[in-house]
Amino acid sequence: MNFKEQIDTNRLPKHIAIIMDGNGRWAKERGKMRVFGHENGVAAVRNTAEAAAEIGIEFVTLYAFSTENWKRPQKEVDALMNLLVKTINKETETLNKNKIRLKAIGDLKSLKKETYAELLTAMENTSANNRMTMTLALSYSSRWEIVEAVKQIAEKTKNGELEPQAITSETITQHLSTNYMPDPELLIRTSGEQRISNYLLWQIAYSELYFCPKYWPDFEKEDFYKAIVDFQTRERRFGKTSEQITK
Ligand code: FPP
Repeated sequence: MNFKEQIDTNRLPKHIAIIMDGNGRWAKERGKMRVFGHENGVAAVRNTAEAAAEIGIEFVTLYAFSTENWKRPQKEVDALMNLLVKTINKETETLNKNKIRLKAIGDLKSLKKETYAELLTAMENTSANNRMTMTLALSYSSRWEIVEAVKQIAEKTKNGELEPQAITSETITQHLSTNYMPDPELLIRTSGEQRISNYLLWQIAYSELYFCPKYWPDFEKEDFYKAIVDFQTRERRFGKTSEQITK
């Protein structure tokens, strides 16, 4: 039985976040430039989006470019930005066909002008789609996002809109760029690295973590489904005892 058939569709995670890692190593193993790995990572993005939509996942959030990635060689940064423009442009039709809404989180204004413009157009053109939301984290880091939220909240307390005593965990959640989605129940990272790398730190407080040894360009639908099957074997206790959960 393949992994897809093993999934209990009544207990699907609503939101799966993914750290797409290993493009560079995948390319190096083939004696190619790192960019070759990113180019081949696009197919894995497509497979994942299709796989998720097919079984009814509502939110998929992909770490495509971190704040720290700006420190990479300029040539790689430029190639990644161009690849994003090309891919977003090319894939909009497929997104619409599959009723997938495209969103983005991160310091989007820091992106290359063409990338930002392409992104805005694609988000607008897919905004009515309601089968699944695919969010790209671009020029994103969780600490950056939390600082931005704190600034907004501080501003509101300063002008009397919000009492400091009224600030709750929900207030923070509402001021994060992810405020339109539930917290991810499952976080997948490829390439065998077992780190969070400044990704959705607040949101993954109770997420199940799944590490796939494959490099991102090799990540296939069945790998995605395998992660969900694994997720469904876990007991999510949220701090309670096992007996309290199963009662
Ligand atoms: C991590 O591998 C991957 C990235 C920083 C970029 C991810 C981008 C894509 C898959 C291209 C297109 C994406 C979309 C959403 C259209 P790495 O370079 O850190 O690999 P390494 O750890 O082996 O060096």
